[in-house]
Amino acid sequence: MTTAANYAEFAAREAHGVSPAYERLALAVSRDRETLELLGALPPAKRQPNLLFAVVRFLGGPVEDPAAFLDYTVGNWPAVQAEMRTRATQTNEAGRCAVLLPVLAALPQPLALLEVGASAGLCLYPDRYAYRYGDHLLGSGEPVLDCAATGVTLPARVPEVVWRAGLDLNPLDVTDPADVAWLAALIWPEHERRRARLRAAAAVAAAEPPLLVRGDLADDLPELAAKAPAGATLVVFHTSVLYQVPAPRREAFAEVVRGLPGHWIANETPDVLPRPGLPRPGLPEPPGAALYNVLALDGTPLAWTLSHGQAMVWFA
Ligand SMILES: C[S@@+](CC[C@H](N)C(=O)[O-])C[C@H]1O[C@@H](n2cnc3c(N)ncnc32)[C@H](O)[C@@H]1O
Repeated sequence: MTTAANYAEFAAREAHGVSPAYERLALAVSRDRETLELLGALPPAKRQPNLLFAVVRFLGGPVEDPAAFLDYTVGNWPAVQAEMRTRATQTNEAGRCAVLLPVLAALPQPLALLEVGASAGLCLYPDRYAYRYGDHLLGSGEPVLDCAATGVTLPARVPEVVWRAGLDLNPLDVTDPADVAWLAALIWPEHERRRARLRAAAAVAAAEPPLLVRGDLADDLPELAAKAPAGATLVVFHTSVLYQVPAPRREAFAEVVRGLPGHWIANETPDVLPRPGLPRPGLPEPPGAALYNVLALDGTPLAWTLSHGQAMVWFA
């Protein structure tokens, strides 16, 4: 797909109805020869709309008016392209804890959590956040994570976590203001509630930063898992990570994780969910047209979930 087509498709399929600002920008880029030429000089993986728009916002550039955005991007290209080459799209969404919670709370307690593709590790604090599943409230403090839950018995209490560790190719540091600013820039302009949630979750994590290790989710997992304390249930989990991982590496990861003690929770789009050696029953129809993730425990699919943890529908 050409860069122009990629931006046009992003406008139509991802930004439409979700971010009017990004829909306008993506359409403008798809039609602007000069910007397309500049993007064409970057490695293909670095030409993506989300990365360009987040970098311009991170640098303080305009994203409301397409003409001003294009002027800024072209006029500041050395700085823009330098950030695009070094930074990556690693949105960290604490809201995803709301869909993990029913599974985590049902496992033998206490838990030793190990998240692969952890970004800054904000999903490693499911015991510290508060939850609102309709009128079922759970936990205390900030942020309060709202989730519309259907077909599941909700837990009475948050899980007990005695160890938390993360593995990421490029871990971000919640105590570094530049890394938190980058995470904020990755949230789309209109999503102010998500930015407030990020700030609150980053404060929780910064008060007791997690053990975050730079490494690959398959190659470096056994060494980190071996550090989990005895007497706690090891839970390896990942949310919205495997779409960034090539298919053979996803399968390699699944083989490694299935060889570990404890449990494995996945929250990923159905096309990237690895299930080696496991039966592949058909999934029920997704509850809507949105792009749903599948929540799975030890390879068994349990529920459809929305990408920021705002809803889940359990399979009958
Ligand atoms: C979209 S972010 C999701 C972060 C977090 N799981 C969440 O849901 O908020 C995906 C993360 O996976 C990491 N990642 C991608 N490939 C990886 C690999 N092979 N090994 C470890 N981490 C990886 C990226 O660096 C990025 O931080």
